[in-house]
Amino acid sequence: MEILGLLCFVVAWYVSKSGLEVEGAELQDQTILLALNQELTVQRWDANNSSYCSWQGVSCNDRSMVVKLDLSHANLRGNVTLVSQLKALRQLDLSNNNFHGYIPPAFGNLSDLEVLDLSSNKFEGSIPPELGGLRNLISLNLSNNLLVGKIPSELHGLEKLQEFQVSSNQLNGSLPTWVGNLTNLRVLAAYENLLGGTIPDNLGLASELEILNLHSNQLEGPIPASIFTSGNLKVLVLTQNNLSGDLPQELGNCQGLSNIRIGNNHLVGTIPKTIGNISSLTYFEADNNNLSGEIVSEFSQCSNLTLLNLASNGFSGTIPTELGQLMNLQELILSGNSLFGNIPESILRCRNLNKLDISNNRFNGTLPNDICKLSRLQFLLLGQNSIAGEIPHEIGNCAKLLELQLGSNYLTGIIPSEIGHIRNLQIALNLSFNHLHGSLPPELGRLDKLVALDVSNNRLSGHIPAELKGMLSLIEVNFSNNLLNGPVPTFVPFQKSPNSSFVGNKELCGEPLNSSCGDLYDGSNNYHHRVSYRIILAVIGSGLAVFMSVTVVVLLFMIRERQEKAAKDAGLVDDETNNKPTIIAGNVFVENLKQAVDLDAVVKATLKDSNKLSSGTFSTVYKAVMPSGMVLSVRRLKSMDKTIIHHQNKMIRELERLSKLCHDNLVRPIGYVIYEDVALLLHHFLPNGTLAQFLHESSKQPEYQPDWPTRLSVAIGVAEGLAFLHHVAIIHLDISSGNVLLDANFKPLLGEIEISKLLDPTRGTASISAVAGSFGYIPPEYAYTMQVTAPGNVYSYGVVLLEILTTRPPVDEDFEEGIDLVKWVHSAPVRGETPEQILDARLSTVSFGWRKEMLAALKVALLCTDTTPAKRPKMKKVMEMLQEIRQN
Ligand SMILES: *[C@@H]1O[C@H](CO)[C@@H](O)[C@H](O)[C@H]1NC(C)=O
Ligand SMILES: *[C@@H]1O[C@H](CO)[C@@H](O)[C@H](O)[C@H]1NC(C)=O
Ligand SMILES: *[C@@H]1O[C@H](CO)[C@@H](O)[C@H](O)[C@H]1NC(C)=O
Ligand SMILES: *[C@@H]1O[C@H](CO)[C@@H](O)[C@H](O)[C@H]1NC(C)=O
Ligand SMILES: *[C@@H]1O[C@H](CO)[C@@H](O)[C@H](O)[C@H]1NC(C)=O
Ligand SMILES: *[C@@H]1O[C@H](CO)[C@@H](O)[C@H](O)[C@H]1NC(C)=O
Ligand SMILES: *[C@@H]1O[C@H](CO)[C@@H](O)[C@H](O)[C@H]1NC(C)=O
Ligand SMILES: *[C@@H]1O[C@H](CO)[C@@H](O)[C@H](O)[C@H]1NC(C)=O
Ligand SMILES: *[C@@H]1O[C@H](CO)[C@@H](O)[C@H](O)[C@H]1NC(C)=O
Repeated sequence: MEILGLLCFVVAWYVSKSGLEVEGAELQDQTILLALNQELTVQRWDANNSSYCSWQGVSCNDRSMVVKLDLSHANLRGNVTLVSQLKALRQLDLSNNNFHGYIPPAFGNLSDLEVLDLSSNKFEGSIPPELGGLRNLISLNLSNNLLVGKIPSELHGLEKLQEFQVSSNQLNGSLPTWVGNLTNLRVLAAYENLLGGTIPDNLGLASELEILNLHSNQLEGPIPASIFTSGNLKVLVLTQNNLSGDLPQELGNCQGLSNIRIGNNHLVGTIPKTIGNISSLTYFEADNNNLSGEIVSEFSQCSNLTLLNLASNGFSGTIPTELGQLMNLQELILSGNSLFGNIPESILRCRNLNKLDISNNRFNGTLPNDICKLSRLQFLLLGQNSIAGEIPHEIGNCAKLLELQLGSNYLTGIIPSEIGHIRNLQIALNLSFNHLHGSLPPELGRLDKLVALDVSNNRLSGHIPAELKGMLSLIEVNFSNNLLNGPVPTFVPFQKSPNSSFVGNKELCGEPLNSSCGDLYDGSNNYHHRVSYRIILAVIGSGLAVFMSVTVVVLLFMIRERQEKAAKDAGLVDDETNNKPTIIAGNVFVENLKQAVDLDAVVKATLKDSNKLSSGTFSTVYKAVMPSGMVLSVRRLKSMDKTIIHHQNKMIRELERLSKLCHDNLVRPIGYVIYEDVALLLHHFLPNGTLAQFLHESSKQPEYQPDWPTRLSVAIGVAEGLAFLHHVAIIHLDISSGNVLLDANFKPLLGEIEISKLLDPTRGTASISAVAGSFGYIPPEYAYTMQVTAPGNVYSYGVVLLEILTTRPPVDEDFEEGIDLVKWVHSAPVRGETPEQILDARLSTVSFGWRKEMLAALKVALLCTDTTPAKRPKMKKVMEMLQEIRQN
């Protein structure tokens, strides 16, 4: 520890020394930055510190001129025109702030600028033509603003441009032809605008072009064949335009093309057989066009193909049997065409198929008996065809099925009772408009998750079985136009349906039909009471666990409130009599902060409720602004143990020791104050709040969604901090996303490390042994060991990692029956849910890369949250596994 302390000191001394050397160098940029700070109030800048080159996000050259300015994600607004006076600037990143008004034309004078990122702000007006003066620009990102008007022709001077991104604005006019003259262009993204005209034919001259994304515009004319000439294209997204003409043969030149999305246009002609050359093809989406001809068997050569969507076109012929070779195929969507024949047996070999949608075609074969060989199938949509024969009994083996659509075919025979085995069936079971006969199998009553049931327009006979009351999730039913008889069972979803759901069955009676059943079935009313009682009991039963968890939280909360109220009352009295509480002891450990911290001011700040930032299990945190201008975060320990006051000296020694723990991802104490029976711990103030706020509060505003790379580095940072703690034999007592703080660059710092030393349960301080950490993060073994251990920490960390992956809190009303996040994730396979349904889909669907990393991180989280402590990996191992994910 001593050595670490020394190291911290040496580093600090070295940095301050080099800071002094700046003096005498060019001061102009300093003046500009100071003025800029005045305008924008950049929290992360220490304006009193003259070594501006070391301010966060600022980099200088050897003449102390600013060459890089990164103010991204800082919640800033104001006038940024001043930046244009930083003459040596090469990289300027103002993205993800609240800047509005016009883009300063003076930016066009930054002749050395190579990177300009103004994305995700509220810049309005048109793109200033002056930007054409940025001759050295390599990357220009103006995406996600409120820009209007045309893309100015003056930008043709940006000859070195490699990335040009203007998506999600309201730009109109056409895509300028000069983009084709940008010989280094790799990325062109102009999606979600109002661009019209054609895609310039000379775009092919931009031979380095890898990503072309122009979806959701009003582009017309053909897809120019020239864009495929160089063969470098990797992503082509043209969805939702007015494009017409054929799909060029030249497509096949681009073997690295992984994404082709050209749906919702007016494209005609056939799919070129050269598609088979595109060995990287992963997504092919061409739905809602006027494409025709046969589905080419060459698709089968694209072994990585995951999604093939040709819905709503004019395709005819049969499904080529070769598609059965596509082992990675997850979704095959061919609905709304004129395809016929059988579902080829070979398709059943696509073992990853999760969605098979061939509805609304002319398929005229039968249902294969072994359709459920597709063990991952969740969506089987075969409605509106001419499929004949019987529904095979084996249908019961499709255990993961969520939706089964067989309506409007020529199916005969009975409804096999095995359908009742598909317990996952949730979205719909539709057997309507067929020739099914026999009675309704009572086993359907086991489908307790099913929302919509339609068996209308068949020849079904007999009673509606009372067992159907087991379908507790039912909302929509349709039994109409069959030969059913007897009373409609008394079951809320039935009686609440319109009578059209039951009409056309001559001998059916009772509510909601107008025909009463007479005396014969009078007993049914009693039954009604029994059933509703049972439902209520079921509901209460499942709510009980949730209720109990909530009660525990509420109780904890009430205890906490009471303590706080007492503290506050004491504070008020103090204020009125203008009596400051007497400080018993206090110190600031960090030498150069001693001047800036005023201990009286610290105490005063904690007496005002308006300064309260957050409340944790063991403490409340206040913001304290020092007379010097320095801002501190002050942690007031709760339910103070008298023993701590009595063992002051030991506590102070521990704090001093902790203040020297030199790790980037730990919040270290910089001082303490003890007054009355209260202990206050002082820390640097971190402006970006907690990880919990970052994940759960920003999730309500999609535009501030933390992306996956940011989340992964947060996860890694926390793991590094915790691994270090374990390395120096400290067990954390309260790991939760609420105890992970984020600095201005979203670097995570694990807080409350002191608690573990000051309130060590193994030393028998009774007040905390009753609670070990925050609800939802407590390892299951704690119930019988009542002790927090290193593997227990790993568990709690795993919960934080799951939060990062799912954007769900550790306990949530959304989970059934008092299930917490860990149980919800671990039981996903049982529920038949894929990892995709667990991960935050807003992130996992962004790219294959992100998805892969998220799946790998999910594995780590599952290991960490194993019920058996011994099976959980060590924190160091966890850290290494996550670091590896990032490197790959
Ligand atoms: C200015 O900031 C640098 C880097 O953060 C630091 O090393 C130095 O000690 C500070 N100087 C003063 C006078 O506070
Ligand atoms: C920082 O600057 C403010 C005004 O700019 C001044 O009031 C304050 O005393 C300065 N703080 C320190 C520590 O120099
Ligand atoms: C920003 O300030 C400059 C002068 O410094 C002024 O010309 C410009 O209009 C201002 N921009 C906005 C959006 O207020
Ligand atoms: C750019 O620099 C030139 C020459 O210094 C100056 O005349 C012009 O006003 C500047 N443009 C803007 C928009 O500030
Ligand atoms: C450009 O900005 C958009 C919107 O903020 C962002 O999604 C994209 O990643 C940015 N591109 C680059 C290369 O940074
Ligand atoms: C383009 O947008 C600008 C600004 O909103 C508008 O004045 C102009 O009429 C639009 N041009 C076309 C062709 O729609
Ligand atoms: C693009 O380059 C061609 C010659 O390579 C030139 O004739 C044409 O004027 C250029 N277009 C633009 C808009 O700069
Ligand atoms: C298929 O995908 C895998 C995994 O992403 C990749 O390693 C492989 O190179 C791809 N194959 C082709 C032919 O692109
Ligand atoms: C299915 O339809 C096709 C085309 O109309 C026809 O040639 C074929 O005989 C039909 N198959 C069956 C089994 O009816």
